[in-house]
Amino acid sequence: MSFGDGHHRCPGCYVALQETDVFLTRLLSLEGLRTERKPSVSWNDLISGYELRGLTVALG
Ligand code: HEM
Repeated sequence: MSFGDGHHRCPGCYVALQETDVFLTRLLSLEGLRTERKPSVSWNDLISGYELRGLTVALG
C-alpha cells in the first residue's frame, strides 16, 4: 500500500523496490557491520504497514 493503488498507483514502484534491494543487499553484506541501536517498530494505519525507525548500524 505504500505505493498507492488504483489508477494512480506508483509506476516507479519496481524501480524503487529494485534500488532498495540492491542497497540493502550490499549494505548488509559489509564485513563488520553491526547494529548499534535497535529500531522501534510501529503500525501505520495510513499505509497499512509496519514502520521501523531509528535503526543505527556501524562498521568495525
Ligand atoms: C520508495 C520510493 C517511492 C515511493 C514510496 C512512491 C510512492 C508513491 C505514491 C504513494 C504515489 C501516489 C499513488 C496514488 O496517488 O495513489 C506515487 C505516484 C507516482 N510515482 Fe512514486 N514512489 C516511489 C518511487 C518512484 C519512482 C522511483 C518513480 C519514477 C521512476 C515514481 C514515479 C511516480 C509517478 C510518475 C507517480 C504518479 C502516478 C499517477 O499519478 O498516475 N515513484 N508514488
